Formats: sequence, C-alpha cells, structure tokens
Amino acid sequence: MNFSAANHRIPLSDGNSIPVIGLGTYAPPKRTPKGTCAIAVKAAIDVGYQHFDGAFLYENEHEVGEAIREKMAEGKVQRENIFYCGKLWATSLTPEMVRPTLERTLRTLQLEYVDLYIIEIPMAFKPGDDVYPKDENGKFIYHKTDLCATWEALEACKDAGLVKSLGVSNFNRRQLELILNKPGLKYKPVSNQVECHPYFTQPKLLQFCRRHNIVIVAYSPLGTSRDPGWVNTSIPPMLEDAYLTSLGKKYNKTAAQIVLRFNIQRGVVVIPKSFNPERIRENFQIFDFSLTDEEMQKVEALNKNIRFVQMLMWSDHPEYPFHEEY
Ligand code: A2P
Repeated sequence: MNFSAANHRIPLSDGNSIPVIGLGTYAPPKRTPKGTCAIAVKAAIDVGYQHFDGAFLYENEHEVGEAIREKMAEGKVQRENIFYCGKLWATSLTPEMVRPTLERTLRTLQLEYVDLYIIEIPMAFKPGDDVYPKDENGKFIYHKTDLCATWEALEACKDAGLVKSLGVSNFNRRQLELILNKPGLKYKPVSNQVECHPYFTQPKLLQFCRRHNIVIVAYSPLGTSRDPGWVNTSIPPMLEDAYLTSLGKKYNKTAAQIVLRFNIQRGVVVIPKSFNPERIRENFQIFDFSLTDEEMQKVEALNKNIRFVQMLMWSDHPEYPFHEEY
C-alpha cells in the first residue's frame, strides 16, 4: 500500500474507505481542561489528519464536532474528507436504544451523519443514563446481551443515512462470527477496533479479520498512557524498547513513529491519542519512510501477547471477550 499524507485511505468492505491514521480523543475527563480536545482536533486537521476517533462516553464529543465544524467553516476541510468514528456504549445495546443513542451523538457533534459507528464493547450493562451502573455493593450490573439484535438496529441506522459504515470493537473471533453468521445479515462489520501494537500484535485475530475483509483499527497503538486505573503497568513501556529505539535512530524517527509505521504498513489503522501539538504532528510524519521486510518481521517478533488494556473489572461478564485466545 502506497500511502501519503494527502492520500492514505484503505478500502472497507462496504465500498467506503477509512484513513489509515486517526486522532484518538480519549483523555480522562476530570484531568483534562475543557477545550483541550477541540484545540487538538483543530491542530490535527491543520497537520492533515482526516480521521477522528471519539465516543459519547469520552465527554468531549461536542468539542470534536465543534472543531470539525469550525475547520469546515474556515474552508480548511470538507465534510467528505473527514472521517468520524463514534461508539455505542454498553448501556445502549438494547435494540430500541440504538437509534436514539446515535441521534444523540449526531446532535452533540452537530453533524448529519457519522462515517463509522461501532459497538464499543460486546458486553451489555443495565440500560440507562448511568454509564457504569453498580448495585449497592459496588458490583457492576450487567444485562442480557444479544449482539445480533443490536446489530440489526445498527443496520437500520445505516439504511436511514445516519451512519455510513458499521463496525465493532473489542470483539473476539466468536463474537465476530456471531454477527457474520447471523441469518439475514444485511451489512458485515467493516472493522474491529482492538488493542494492537508491537507488544500485542494480534496475529490470529488479524489473520481472521483479513480473511473476512474486516479492517483492524488499533487502539493504544503507542502502548497506552499507562494510567494504573485501567492499564496493566507490569509490561515495560513499549516506546523505550531497545530495538524500536534503534530503528528510530536508523530512520531519524522516534519509537512512536516506528510503531505507527509498523501497523499501517501491514494494513492496520492506527488511532494514537495526543492532545500535544508537537506529538500530534510527530505521529502523522509516518509517510516518508518504510520498514524493510526483515524489520517488519523483527518488530512483529517483539510480541509479548499480553494486553495493556485488560478490562478485568468486567471479567465475570458472560460476554467478556478476552477469556478466549483471540
Ligand atoms: P499526550 O496527549 O500528552 O501526547 P492512547 O493509548 O489513548 O492512544 O494514549 C497515548 C498516550 O501516549 C497519551 O498519553 C499521549 O499523551 C501519549 N503520546 C501520544 N503521542 C506520543 C508520542 N509521539 N510519543 C510519546 N507519547 C505520546
């Protein structure tokens, strides 16, 4: 694949396409000053990013929409050159909640459609406004999960023109097969957003997805912010890896640029989050070099097959996706 800063889309199975790099927008809401996300999105658009990965759950989706609309009004970008991915959270998986939840995202963004809408995790929680519903003992309240019924409601949203492409996130092979084998399936998932980087390269899931024309979108492609609240910090910081930094020296690049290049070069979409203008620019400078086949294999061999993002607090959910090998 020959990507450039101006042209770096990869085709999706439904005829649409996705820019191979996007800006991640999750930052801890309580520790992030208001307006930071909007400034970052605008800086990213100026640098050439076309793809933004967000969610209502992140509490800053209105800032992403505001930034996109401002840049469109300035004439810097047109809507068709922007790709926004939104997410359906675990408390909205019941079919009747799907469309109103997507419509709320569209109102928040003040956009007419999203390019991609994905099921954020395959585990349903008690429906309602409380996004982390817990009982009086502090235990999460789960809900019966029927991913096929949720999917049918999403298909109706695509038919209504509210979303261009449909995908999933944190799905394992069995859960993907559940959708792919659904009787009467109208639209296949175009993508599966999962953790993916040189320490967790996802060889088996990637192979399965390739076979089914499902694009892998890599979250935490730089190895996460290492927030001990939700990240397994027993794995050493990936960006300090000796081989990755030595490759960086060879190409006059940072380890971050090496790991992003590794994924895009094998057709995996990356969505590094940064709200820092220099790092936003740095993460986009990955189109002016390429790794050799041998280097690609050596980076692949760094795989430790251990997740940074384990979501262990939900490991007793019947649809917890990470008990299975992939
Ligand atoms: P910052 O926003 O200060 O740049 P995620 O796993 O959610 O994608 O988060 C990526 C983390 O890595 C963020 O904490 C982000 O912080 C940081 N980061 C982003 N780009 C770089 C980079 N080029 N080098 C080092 N750290 C980075």
